[in-house]
Amino acid sequence: MNKVIVTGGAGYIGSHTCLKLIELGYEPLIIDNLSNTSIENIKGVESITNKKLNFYELDCCSAQKLDMIIKKENGIIGAIHFAAYKSVEESVREPEKFFYNNLKSLESLIDVMINQNLNNLIFSSSCTVYGSPDSLPVDENAPFKKAESPYGETKQLCEKIIEKSTLFSVCLRYFNPIGSHNSGLIGDRSADKPANLVPIICEVAYGKREKLIINGNDYNTKDGTCVRDYIHVEDLALAHINALEYCIKNKSKSIFNIGTGQGLSVAETVRIFEECNNIKVNLEYGPRRTGDVAEIYSDTKKSSKYLKWKSEKSISDALKSAWNWELNKT
Ligand SMILES: NC(=O)c1ccc[n+]([C@@H]2O[C@H](COP(=O)([O-])OP(=O)(O)OC[C@H]3O[C@@H](n4cnc5c(N)ncnc54)[C@H](O)[C@@H]3O)[C@@H](O)[C@H]2O)c1
Repeated sequence: MNKVIVTGGAGYIGSHTCLKLIELGYEPLIIDNLSNTSIENIKGVESITNKKLNFYELDCCSAQKLDMIIKKENGIIGAIHFAAYKSVEESVREPEKFFYNNLKSLESLIDVMINQNLNNLIFSSSCTVYGSPDSLPVDENAPFKKAESPYGETKQLCEKIIEKSTLFSVCLRYFNPIGSHNSGLIGDRSADKPANLVPIICEVAYGKREKLIINGNDYNTKDGTCVRDYIHVEDLALAHINALEYCIKNKSKSIFNIGTGQGLSVAETVRIFEECNNIKVNLEYGPRRTGDVAEIYSDTKKSSKYLKWKSEKSISDALKSAWNWELNKT
């Protein structure tokens, strides 16, 4: 059996990736300390696939414990590293916590992989590494800009650590992951109050929040609101398997954008959500939010050429599945 270490595999993107790995004949070896998710995502994948998962509740920052677990397993072909803290706002309040967890968990995993002669590391990076890009769509050669938050800085530093390591690797720079598997059994179970657009839209539509405040309608964009590249989490999940297979085959280090290539404004996203879910979202325009980039969307040529991957699901699919998750999550 081809086993793949999946750190943070009980999280939002990790659980969707574990599901995809199983569907494609791989066996995920999941390591997660459940610091920002719930065991329900593991149960959800088990229920969808009708398979018992190989799951260890463990902090990846402990290289010693990680080493013990991985040593016991045979047939590991690589690792996908999701384990990190992701709240931008919290990273501003508690930067040390973010630098420690996000860097240490990666360093421990790299040490263990090198110790055990394992190769092929796939890393969850982010388009935040580009800051506010000089030209659009942004491609992988665009330089790192000054990070907008400690969280963004951890992604830049992690990419540099990987670059310097001896491992074969692929860094995937995600744009804006949204949506969920249609079963409603796995999704984002983050402890934080949502700070991203689509989960907030869902909470407003549900009645958990009174209204959506759109931060800024005076940007130099098509309708004055910020523009982002929203990618369905199931498409994103598949990109990890293509990346792993690419890494194994090419024995190299690479970086890919993972997005749709389409820039959608906040106002357009709300409108599509309302149309495809047939529900009204109460909204109001407010001031700009510090640190928000006006417009960013991906150049997808490189991922399409080398990973043979492109997004398949539409924005309506993604927004319908996000609403389904809001209605059904347990
Ligand atoms: N969701 C996004 O918008 C987005 C965008 C770009 C990049 N990313 C990156 O993708 C990865 C996954 O994001 P997500 O949205 O699924 O977040 P998530 O919080 O749902 O998943 C991360 C998982 O890692 C676990 N974890 C954290 N620190 C750990 C540690 N030290 N040891 C073991 N487990 C640990 C958490 O419990 C959680 O289950 C993260 O690295 C994140 O920074 C996410």
